[in-house]
Amino acid sequence: MKKHPVIAVSGSIAAYKTCELVRNIVKKGIPVRVMMTENATRFIGPVTFAALSNMPVIVNEWDQGMIHIDVKNEASVFAIVPATANIIGKMANGIADDAVSSAYLAMECPVIVAPAMNPNMYKSKPVQRNLKILKEDGVIVIDPMVGEVVCGDVGPGKMAEVQQIEKIILEYHYKNEGI
Ligand SMILES: Cc1cc2nc3c(=O)[nH]c(=O)nc-3n(C[C@H](O)[C@H](O)[C@H](O)COP(=O)(O)O)c2cc1C
Repeated sequence: MKKHPVIAVSGSIAAYKTCELVRNIVKKGIPVRVMMTENATRFIGPVTFAALSNMPVIVNEWDQGMIHIDVKNEASVFAIVPATANIIGKMANGIADDAVSSAYLAMECPVIVAPAMNPNMYKSKPVQRNLKILKEDGVIVIDPMVGEVVCGDVGPGKMAEVQQIEKIILEYHYKNEGI
C-alpha cells in the first residue's frame, strides 16, 4: 500500500498555517491525513482540514475504534505542525491521553515536530529538556525562528516557515512512501 504524510495539529495560534501546508502538499497530488488535538479544534474547525485533505480528520479516538493505531499503517511520515509545549512534553514522556499522543507512540515512520510557542515558554527548562529528549529519541525537530509572536513578545518560538516544513516532510515522505 502506498503511504502518505500524516499531519497532526496541536493547539497553537500557528494552527492556521497548517491549512496552507496541507493545501500545498495535496496540490502536489500527495494525499494527507490530518489529525487534531481537541484543543487544536478551538483554533481551526476539523471541517476545514477535511475539505483541504478530502479525507476524514481524526480527533477523537473514542468514536473511531482503534484509529490511533491503524493510522500508523498509512503514514510515510508523521509531522506535528504546530507542536505545542504540551504535546512536546507528552511525547517526551510517553503520555498517551489522546489520539495524537497515542498515535505517536505507535508510529513506525519518521516523526517530525515543528514547535510554536511564546519565546519564554520555548526557552523554559522543561520545554528545552523535552526537546532534547525527543531529539535523542530520533524525532526530527524543526527549530522555530526568532521573531515576534502573536502576543507581541520577541524571541525564539515563532514556527518555522511553512515552505521549510513542507520540504522536510516531503523529503521523508518520498523516502518512505513505498515501504
Ligand atoms: C489563544 C491561545 C494561543 C495559544 N498558543 C499556543 C502556542 O502557540 N503554543 C503553545 O505551546 N501553546 C499555546 N497555547 C496553549 C495551548 O493551547 C494549551 O497548552 C493546550 O493545553 C495545548 O493542548 P494540545 O497540546 O493538546 O493541543 C495557546 C492558548 C491560547 C488560548
